[in-house]
Amino acid sequence: MLRDGSNIGVNFTYKVQDTPRGLADAFIIGEDFIGNDRVCLILGDNLFYGQNMTRILNRAKNRDSGATIFGYPVKDARSFGVVEFDNNFKVLGIEEKPKEPKSNYAVPGLYFYDNRVIDIAKKIKPSPRGEIEITEVNNAYLQMGELNVELMGRGIAWLDTGTPDGMLKAAQFVETIQSRQGFYISCIEEIAWRRNFINDQQLRSIGEKLEMTAYGQYLLSLLGGEKK
Ligand code: G1P
Repeated sequence: MLRDGSNIGVNFTYKVQDTPRGLADAFIIGEDFIGNDRVCLILGDNLFYGQNMTRILNRAKNRDSGATIFGYPVKDARSFGVVEFDNNFKVLGIEEKPKEPKSNYAVPGLYFYDNRVIDIAKKIKPSPRGEIEITEVNNAYLQMGELNVELMGRGIAWLDTGTPDGMLKAAQFVETIQSRQGFYISCIEEIAWRRNFINDQQLRSIGEKLEMTAYGQYLLSLLGGEKK
């Protein structure tokens, strides 16, 4: 759908994981893409929404070395990576889908690593579910003393869309905010335009192609200047 991103002033490339070998496989498949850089991994079925998300992301992005992951309070953490803390909130370990979670802090699908992640991923052995687990990567950084776990507060929404039920809940959330505010959440063309990746004319041209849809009309309404 997003193709190479050139129409919104960004550059997307893709690689396919043809069998589910695990999240950490992203760093092996993506080795050439990463090159000598640091890297961020975001799971496509995770949705984040909140006032300080940009600040949180920038802080993680600007950290030169080590890893940054997040902890988010959930009612039932059993289907996630779960952080174990001591009494002073020092991280003791992360467990993947524990039957008895040691805290209610799940690890969302948003991870920042320095370049060592490629070698770390290559050394991980598949878990009982046959996947090289991102949780093992995180524990490797923890053992090196280089894992930052930042707690996301209750004011941020972290939802996932990996099940029909999750997808429905996320859609209801997005619809509620969007229809109240009149702004779309994460409208990529709007973001590109507000960040000057594209100019008014480029936004207009995208909007006009979609003019028969509410989405296209939204893009064109941004140019009217009534939305600040
Ligand atoms: C994966 C990770 C898990 C993390 C979750 C976030 O789980 O393995 O640690 O908490 O994503 O969505 P999976 O989607 O593979 O079940």
